[in-house]
Amino acid sequence: MSLLDAAKRARDNAHAPPYSNFKVGAAVRTTSGDIFAGCNVENVAYPEGTCAEAGAIAAMVLAGQREITEALVIADAPPLPVTPPCGGCRQKLKEFAGPDARVTMLTTGGGAELVMTMAELLPGAFTNEHLETS
Ligand code: THU
Repeated sequence: MSLLDAAKRARDNAHAPPYSNFKVGAAVRTTSGDIFAGCNVENVAYPEGTCAEAGAIAAMVLAGQREITEALVIADAPPLPVTPPCGGCRQKLKEFAGPDARVTMLTTGGGAELVMTMAELLPGAFTNEHLETS
């Protein structure tokens, strides 16, 4: 299955209704070539909802994998062309993706597509180097 198909299938299962109704699907590919997908899971206690990217990353880590080579996010975002990963998800992706990893943003209607590298998505990232003490 392609990264796109995995993200689309995940999106179909998003728990966004009855809240935002904004369904998101995400998929990541790892260095082994495996694909892990996730959808947003909202909650009646609104801040407890989780993003699609978080679900995909959790599935990847559960499978014992930690290196993302590529990611894809799909949503239905009119009137804007595509939905970019939120700030928190950029940091979550960065934990497992190198600066050159491609992140593709798509809309369900087709057409619009935006591809950025991890470094472009999260310039000046907080990294584990910042945690090192001398
Ligand atoms: N959402 C994601 O799943 N990923 C993002 O990167 C952007 C936002 C979800 C969270 C929430 O369930 C819905 O979109 C509306 O914010």
